[in-house]
Amino acid sequence: MNKAKMSIDRLNRISAIDNRIYGSFIEHLGRAVYNGIYEPEHPMANKKGFRKDVIQLVKELQVPIIRYPGGNFVSGFNWEDSVGPREQRPKRLDLAWFTTETNEVGMQEFDEWLQEVNSEMMLAVNLGTRGADAARNLVEYCNHREGSFWSDLRIRHGKKAPYGIKTWCLGNEMDGPWQMGHKTAYEYGRLANETAKMMRWVDPSIELVACGSSKMVMPTFADWEAMVLTEAYEEVDYLSLHNYWGNSDGDTESYLAGGILMDDFIKSVIAICDYVKAKKRSKKKINLSFDEWNVWYHTKESDKQIEHWLQAPPRLEDIYNFEDALLVGGLLITLLKNSDRVKMACLAQLVNVIAPIMTEVGGKAWTQTIYYPFYYTSVYGRGEALKVNIEGPRFDCKQYTDVPMLDSVAVYNEEEETLALFVMNRSIKEDLEITCDLRGVKADRCIGNVALEGYDYKAANTAESPGCVVPAQKPTGILEAGSMHTVVSRSSWNMFRFHIGK
Ligand code: AHR
Repeated sequence: MNKAKMSIDRLNRISAIDNRIYGSFIEHLGRAVYNGIYEPEHPMANKKGFRKDVIQLVKELQVPIIRYPGGNFVSGFNWEDSVGPREQRPKRLDLAWFTTETNEVGMQEFDEWLQEVNSEMMLAVNLGTRGADAARNLVEYCNHREGSFWSDLRIRHGKKAPYGIKTWCLGNEMDGPWQMGHKTAYEYGRLANETAKMMRWVDPSIELVACGSSKMVMPTFADWEAMVLTEAYEEVDYLSLHNYWGNSDGDTESYLAGGILMDDFIKSVIAICDYVKAKKRSKKKINLSFDEWNVWYHTKESDKQIEHWLQAPPRLEDIYNFEDALLVGGLLITLLKNSDRVKMACLAQLVNVIAPIMTEVGGKAWTQTIYYPFYYTSVYGRGEALKVNIEGPRFDCKQYTDVPMLDSVAVYNEEEETLALFVMNRSIKEDLEITCDLRGVKADRCIGNVALEGYDYKAANTAESPGCVVPAQKPTGILEAGSMHTVVSRSSWNMFRFHIGK
């Protein structure tokens, strides 16, 4: 059997992890909101119409921030439609997804739901069909205490205390021709700069995310980032990255190595941010917000048949399988390995729409395969990210060469005196015998071992059999002279937890 050596040292610190790296996303799209989080006729609905079973599953994921209300949807959204008395809210055609938006759930209702799930809002403003004026008014409505037109309107709408929204996205995927109000990098960079300036004049405490490329293969990638930052560097705090993965050509070996592309994308965007910093002789560092990432490909073709102007039709309801879950686990490792610069990330999305949580109308809520790696990483991956030194075999596949079989990151939690070690064996062919030297973190015993392994790549959970693909709780290994010896099976994602001694 192939062997690998690993070692972890307390001093090999990547960064303190910003918990917002475990963010997610709810867009007014498909059944994410209506018949997803909100279904007033459901037997499990609370007084406000939100499903308690969904709330429970979201809470378990411990998602600290949720991007809202889009996505492509936000680029045609009039925020004023979604506030105030519900019976006066207009129905609008949504040109992003060709549906009818009723605005039954808006700012106030979504904020109430966020409180139920212990999360906060990352609010996107419309820089597609609208601009700086609507955006600064929205900041005034949400965050200004009182005594101005928009803040007093909020109070008349029954919300005395400001929402106090801290994190704001300056539009969505403005580089994409599919976007309402698509712009050139220069047009967007100028607009982002002016909008950011005015939003911050209303509330200097907010943090702003400018749009980077909507995927790494965009023809404008890199030039887009450089130009946007050239125009808006001093006014923005983060640059966004979006990317979706898929295995449409059935090449599982390359698919499972998808973390390489994510890593490359992140490193390239960091290089561009730092290039503009140098060019501007700026003291400020721009960090990254990977605010859309996930697997999305299962429904791309079938969704083309959906009739236009329906209300909340099922859309982007990808059913995820074992290999998708492995990839998601691997992508989380990559995000943590880059947590010195990736401060926020949003698994896109959260309920029904390319989501870890699915619902049946009037029926069950259930968890997809990808729920599990996200759950374990979010719950146990808080603290300081530590680099894992690895000496082990590598392989070539169709899309990448020299791929390390093992991918790994560790998270040290000083307060809880624990270390979580996340390990993926990307090889589809070989199990690996590993020896992990933990003396550098003073681990004295293994307290948990969870493995997602051994399923058919296409095995999936469904409403009828939701427990098909779940990680196994394995016996905890014994440490010998501060080292763990174990086998990680081919195509597996694993989490080991250790107690840290004095
Ligand atoms: O998450 C689905 C869509 O993917 C979002 O609306 C858009 O931003 C991206 O293209």
